[in-house]
Amino acid sequence: MVQVVQTDDFGEDDLLRIVDGEPDPFEDEHLAMAWKAKTDHVVLEESGGAVAHAGWVHVEVEPEGHRPVAAVGLGEVLVHRDHRGRGLGRRVVEEAVALMALEERPIALLFCRIDRLAFYRRLGWHRQQGEVVVDQPDGPVVMPLETCWLPLFPAAGLPDGGLRISGLPF
Ligand SMILES: CC(C)(COP(=O)(O)OP(=O)(O)OC[C@H]1O[C@@H](n2cnc3c(N)ncnc32)[C@H](O)[C@@H]1OP(=O)(O)O)[C@@H](O)C(=O)NCCC(=O)NCCS
Repeated sequence: MVQVVQTDDFGEDDLLRIVDGEPDPFEDEHLAMAWKAKTDHVVLEESGGAVAHAGWVHVEVEPEGHRPVAAVGLGEVLVHRDHRGRGLGRRVVEEAVALMALEERPIALLFCRIDRLAFYRRLGWHRQQGEVVVDQPDGPVVMPLETCWLPLFPAAGLPDGGLRISGLPF
């Protein structure tokens, strides 16, 4: 049976236990980007061991020509490779989104490779069209990954076009 655990105490070592030696599970190491640490986490456990994770953190996003919007950035969505294809990815994202929706911020955001878009679209996420700029230690850069958003308030949305996200990506 899968147990859902919400925690603010989940670090690099905990994530590495789910990675379990899989080389570059997010297939993003070549980007050599710096990422923002997540403050909140959902972990799916089975037989006492973690098999899936999603984390989130508060972020600010400024759509081009619009006022900044308070958002929640989702990241480090990972299912142990031996447990993929069983619905755990869907479950961990849905559990995370349900908790993110309590944060009173209208928009959820995430970055993903183009080949993961279909996974998130099935879960209701929208692909943002337009250039997205994030910070890195040496200054702002154009995000090379796809950006997706999800409304956390009923009528919330982002306009098409460029986005400026303050701080490191997540
Ligand atoms: C992406 C990932 C989280 C999916 O987890 P999973 O447990 O295999 O996904 P699920 O079994 O819950 O699949 C949910 C749905 O998405 C689909 N799906 C899963 N992975 C997909 C992919 N890579 N591309 C397209 N569709 C995908 C499934 O077919 C399923 O569709 P259905 O609801 O119509 O049956 C998992 O493959 C993973 O951990 N990958 C490595 C890390 C990673 O890339 N994380 C995402 C970073 S943005």
